[in-house]
Amino acid sequence: MCGIVGYIGQNMDTDHFLLSGLEKLEYRGYDSAGIALLNDEGIHVFKEKGRISDLRKTVHTSIPATQGIGQTRWATHGAPNRVNAHPHQSQSGRFTLVHNGVIENYESLYENYLKDIPLTSDTDTEIIVQLVDLFVHEGLEVSAALLKVLNLLKGSYAIAMIDKQDADKIYICKNKSPLLVGLGDGTFNVFGSDALPMIHVTKTFVQLLDEEMVIVERKQVTIKNLKGETVLRDSFQMDLDLDDIQKGTYAHYMLKEIDEQPFIVRKIIQEYQNTGSGFEVQSDIVEAVSTCDRIYIIACGTSYHAGLIGKQYLENWAQVPVEVHIASEFSYNTPLLARKSLFIFISQSGETADSRAVLKKVKQLGYPALTITNVVGSTLSREADYSLFLHAGPEIAVASTKAYTAQITVLAILAAVTADHKSIPLSFDLLHELGVVANAMELICDRKPEMQQLAREYLHDYRNAFFIGRHIDYYVVLEGALKLKEISYIQAEGFAGGELKHGTIALIETDTPVIALTTQSNTNLGIRSNMKEVAARGAKVCTIAMEGLDKPDDQLIIPSVHEHLTPLLAVIPLQIISYYAALEKGCDIDKPRNLAKSVTVE
Ligand code: M6R
Repeated sequence: MCGIVGYIGQNMDTDHFLLSGLEKLEYRGYDSAGIALLNDEGIHVFKEKGRISDLRKTVHTSIPATQGIGQTRWATHGAPNRVNAHPHQSQSGRFTLVHNGVIENYESLYENYLKDIPLTSDTDTEIIVQLVDLFVHEGLEVSAALLKVLNLLKGSYAIAMIDKQDADKIYICKNKSPLLVGLGDGTFNVFGSDALPMIHVTKTFVQLLDEEMVIVERKQVTIKNLKGETVLRDSFQMDLDLDDIQKGTYAHYMLKEIDEQPFIVRKIIQEYQNTGSGFEVQSDIVEAVSTCDRIYIIACGTSYHAGLIGKQYLENWAQVPVEVHIASEFSYNTPLLARKSLFIFISQSGETADSRAVLKKVKQLGYPALTITNVVGSTLSREADYSLFLHAGPEIAVASTKAYTAQITVLAILAAVTADHKSIPLSFDLLHELGVVANAMELICDRKPEMQQLAREYLHDYRNAFFIGRHIDYYVVLEGALKLKEISYIQAEGFAGGELKHGTIALIETDTPVIALTTQSNTNLGIRSNMKEVAARGAKVCTIAMEGLDKPDDQLIIPSVHEHLTPLLAVIPLQIISYYAALEKGCDIDKPRNLAKSVTVE
């Protein structure tokens, strides 16, 4: 959600760095974009509604400059148009600023300080830059003025600000919204909302914490807290491969990421395998999971769906009671907590604001927390007591695919290791069975034409679709429905097969598409009855069955894998069918409308 990138150094092609950096941040979701460049002639601001390609047309000719800032905006306050796009400038024109996040008290700040200053946009952001200008005008030095403003702000921010009168510095600030500094070779420094726009120029980063301001110069960076005190922080290395963030020959990141899933399951096996034939997880984490009374899994969207599967493993294998909660609801709807509660936060990005709000609350209550995330150094991983990583490589498509299967794999390993620690025998060899899953995933990924055909036959031209399953398949169809709706805009809902007749079956009419999943021997008969019920009312049923449970008329048979691990495999045809349904409709698959990859506002 919104992305920031910036450069200060000796190279004159800052515009190129900013524009290509913004392209690498596109995946986060945005609806307008802009850059500001500072050179001897002054400040040059370009902004545009729409895509970076539209902004590129506006910039049209290269502007040599050795410092600049850029932003992709996902509108919260004010419509997504050119006026509200960032950067914003102060009334005097001296300061130019980009901002991610939401300033909750912007109206009262305007009333209290800026009433005489006409604003040019509808954004909360403009208040920040006008306030800095005001305080500098009143006599404060720039960093003191900015600190004064930060102390007044309520809400979340990642900010980058240029002072036209000082080409040697860029000021950046962070609270709740992510921001990372990339250290150059002594001739430049860079910063961004994440590492992706910077990894081609550096692998050394400095993480910022909340309520910090950094003065970024060519040769050094100085971190300050909101009292103005200098903070010392070590840098760290991030080993990201440039290939990980390129589409290669794929038309979309989503398809590339779907295909990466077998490889990622194998990678996770490797990362967590011990020297023998089992798995290993950090001993303090295993101890925390083994000794708690109850686990609360907190997550959103796809990560929440992975949590539902994780609950099955932790309860059935490790015999720990688990509740799974949607992060945005947890604060209002906090259950009676067990005395020895453990919280597990599942988040691909590690930055989701709804989850972070719960983590903050949980820490205040004094409960331990474990984050399972894909992003090393992300906020949720830093703020929790323990972290486990997905090792799935950057997930760029907004629609989460490989993170889901990676989350389930890591949760399975955590549950198995905990069971072992508690001397509860597992009736199967997880390491072997995960290997079988990875091979089966490959087979499914190679059968895309069949799924493309199903998408054409069952989803093309339809406005609604239902997904049904029972038991663990029910959780998988929830994810299938989310995939379809978010990228194809077809209204899709997942239901527990047995629940249909309690209301939803009223919506079934001639040719309503119903995708039914059956991978469990104990629910096969039940879900098949539900298929008959909807077919009798005119539905067009597309059955995806696991080998061994299949019937001659089933539309797609997936290879047989261990019954507990079927979600890892069964989700893939649902991802691929959704992909092709969206492709047929000509949707912007990697960047669906209104969505952001990293949802950093509550
Ligand atoms: O980064 P997170 O896993 O915390 O993100 C949670 C959701 O926003 C995310 O899974 C979302 O539902 C995806 N777009 C689904 O494809």
